[in-house]
Amino acid sequence: MAEVVIVGDREEAGELAAGAIRSLITRRRDAVLGLATGSTPLPVYAALARTLREDPLDVSAVRGFALDEYVGLPAGHPESYRAVITREVVEPLGLDPSLVHVPGDGSDSIETAGEDYERAIVAAGGIDLQILGIGSTGHIGFNEPGSSFASLTRIKTLTERTRQDNARFFDSLDEVPRHCLTQGLGTILRARHLVLLAFGEGKAEAIAAAVEGPLTASQPGSAIQLHPHVTVLIDEAAASRLQNADYYRYTWENRPSWQTL
Ligand code: PGA
Repeated sequence: MAEVVIVGDREEAGELAAGAIRSLITRRRDAVLGLATGSTPLPVYAALARTLREDPLDVSAVRGFALDEYVGLPAGHPESYRAVITREVVEPLGLDPSLVHVPGDGSDSIETAGEDYERAIVAAGGIDLQILGIGSTGHIGFNEPGSSFASLTRIKTLTERTRQDNARFFDSLDEVPRHCLTQGLGTILRARHLVLLAFGEGKAEAIAAAVEGPLTASQPGSAIQLHPHVTVLIDEAAASRLQNADYYRYTWENRPSWQTL
């Protein structure tokens, strides 16, 4: 079962996730991080940048793989996930940009981009810790409802709901791409530790479906139930539809002293 931690606010979730990443890098200086974009993971990157400033750690060998990327944006577009990852992760953390990859980078053609990305992840030894948000459609990465639990990195068509959700980052809805490259649910399930974050009432239904709902491709987030090591960091609003919230609180309050995330 996923470990569900209901926190006071997104900053607290960011601190917990940043602590897990810090301890991973301390154990393994060339750790491989799976990097999510969107609003949700920003407190994680901010908390990690803060701890690295206050208590520096060698991150020169840390490697990263973005979860997904839009297809069809002009090169260098500020809302391409390459640009977002550079701005929100690589620069503030001081990572080596040559060690941080985004789907489609360096591929000769869009047709082979998925396979190329999978090969690069395998060559890196797999992802140690994958940060995840969840969409209001229940997607993780850009795996929209109907995505196979065995899917690997490939091109997907975004739902209109996701395009509308992401329109806030663009000047107009028309500018939001219709296609993307995304790690598959199978790719995500191969990562050694999943850290899924969600905040706000708008995510409550998707979180309930992911954590407690039936395993179904119609709710791609439910794939996390197949993974042996998942941490779900959510605020009270995102937890508001969970049946077993009291048990999750009890479990967290009574966690053994030796237990880390
Ligand atoms: P958000 O997106 O963090 O911007 O809400 C999450 C997602 O679409 O996975």
